[in-house]
Amino acid sequence: MNVLTFDTEEQIGIAAGYYMCGQVLQKPDSVLGLATGSTPLKPYAHMIKLYQDGAVDFSKVTTFNLDEYCNLDVKDKNSYHSFMYENLFDHINIPDENINFLNGNAEDMDAECKAYEERIKKCGGIDIQLLGIGSNGHIAFNEPADSFQRWSHVVALKESTIKDNSRFFNSIEEVPTHAVTMGIGSIMQAKRILIIAIGENKAKAIKQLIDGNVTPQCPASVLQFHKDVTLMLDKGAASLI
Ligand code: GLP
Repeated sequence: MNVLTFDTEEQIGIAAGYYMCGQVLQKPDSVLGLATGSTPLKPYAHMIKLYQDGAVDFSKVTTFNLDEYCNLDVKDKNSYHSFMYENLFDHINIPDENINFLNGNAEDMDAECKAYEERIKKCGGIDIQLLGIGSNGHIAFNEPADSFQRWSHVVALKESTIKDNSRFFNSIEEVPTHAVTMGIGSIMQAKRILIIAIGENKAKAIKQLIDGNVTPQCPASVLQFHKDVTLMLDKGAASLI
């Protein structure tokens, strides 16, 4: 594991933006796994800047997003679909048909999840997966559980996650109770993983990720078994390591 600590969130944004764009420069038809939440906002802003400066071209890139809420209109401002267009896709030259999301409103969720995994496989797998981390150690929406869920699946969100994510909604009651997420197996198959954490509330999860027991009770701990993981942390997130 390559652990990098930075003084400011701004610096992480620049470093992570370069890291993601570096992948695209090396391989213009890269498959990027993308994340939502507040952590990737600065990296996305820097990716947009590099695009606007003419440094990188996304016209051959394909993306797969990690997760999406269930029973929330994709046009809702809190859907991960809206988030991605607002914070990245509307500002770069990625073709719409190259953008992939799990559909949290699909009639047959099992079929939706299987089709998503197939689509990832057909594209040759994810070259680099960007991840944030939940304060309870969740990655994507793989919540602490008794076993690792391998492939994409529907999940009931933990109270702590609903509480953490309620800051984006008008009230906690509005936060969807379920989501659809790529599984631990889907994430572990990515060739490279970049995980970013900002703030002291992530410190415990980061400590466990780096040198705790590998357990589905802290889903991020499984990343110890991946051969190419880079962590970008601010001082708060790194405070227990
Ligand atoms: C959500 C997302 C995760 C994300 C996490 C942390 O639950 N499903 O992919 O990593 O929030 O979000 P934040 O970056 O806002 O702390």
